[in-house]
Amino acid sequence: MVRGGGKLWSILVEVGPTTGDSPAIGIRWGIFSQFGVSWDNWGNNGRSLVDALFGLGEDGQLLTINCYMIEDHNDRRQFATATQRNREPILQVLSRVLPPKGTVLEVASGTGEHGAFLAPRLSPRFWLPSDPNPLAIESIESWRRYTGSDRLLEPLCLDVREPQWTVERTPPPQLQEQPIGALVCINMIHISPWEACLGLVAGAQRLLPVGGVLYLYGPYKEGGRHTSPSNEGFDLMLRDRDPSWGIRDQEAVIAAAEERGLRFQEMLEMPANNRSLVFGK
Ligand SMILES: C[S@@+](CC[C@H](N)C(=O)[O-])C[C@H]1O[C@@H](n2cnc3c(N)ncnc32)[C@H](O)[C@@H]1O
Repeated sequence: MVRGGGKLWSILVEVGPTTGDSPAIGIRWGIFSQFGVSWDNWGNNGRSLVDALFGLGEDGQLLTINCYMIEDHNDRRQFATATQRNREPILQVLSRVLPPKGTVLEVASGTGEHGAFLAPRLSPRFWLPSDPNPLAIESIESWRRYTGSDRLLEPLCLDVREPQWTVERTPPPQLQEQPIGALVCINMIHISPWEACLGLVAGAQRLLPVGGVLYLYGPYKEGGRHTSPSNEGFDLMLRDRDPSWGIRDQEAVIAAAEERGLRFQEMLEMPANNRSLVFGK
């Protein structure tokens, strides 16, 4: 782990062919401050950017060193290590709490790995991923093609802070037969301004039918206190990155949701001091 000038840095290393069809092996490396990418963008593969964008780590890790073999330069899939740890427990919760059919709209999909894993396993439901970041959209779409699941729909560009979401302005045709019955948001509320949380619950109020479900995953404070030392360190790191970010009070999130007509149903402890919050409409 490295800290430099009060900023967080990541060192990323990629190993792979120097061009898509050359047998030569090359190494590229970049040093990133989180979200401030300084990268030579060698080749056509943005895979390492995931760690610049998402490498904050749920358990407060400060630095990631990743090595990837680049097999296909058109493959834009990005990888977030936490997904390996949390996707199965998230599946267990979602299998139980989601409506039995319809479309699950995922906001802040990031790499798109959750949808790739969950969509085929939550069939017959459909999974509609989204994110406002164009790099994320590329990764989500790449994961969609890689997975080949007919339950995983094309990603939408969607910013929850907008008063009317893209999915409302131009709904994908599939929603006519498979309307949205649930909203899923994993690891966004603490890595975005509070307005994103407010936008999310406002959107849930507009989009969810009666009986619909809002599912949130991430770290929370309770009674104004962190639930673990690692969450406290993570929170400091987030605020250092951007003062408008930070681990939220669970009570504040529940109050914001209830102001928008959503009923808090349950909280479940999840891996690495994260929690699932489930709301019904
Ligand atoms: C830490 S990543 C989480 C990605 C993924 N859900 C996961 O758990 O791996 C946070 C994501 O929130 C997205 N995000 C930030 N602000 C947002 C907003 N206003 N609306 C929708 N997504 C947002 C970012 O683009 C990013 O993909």
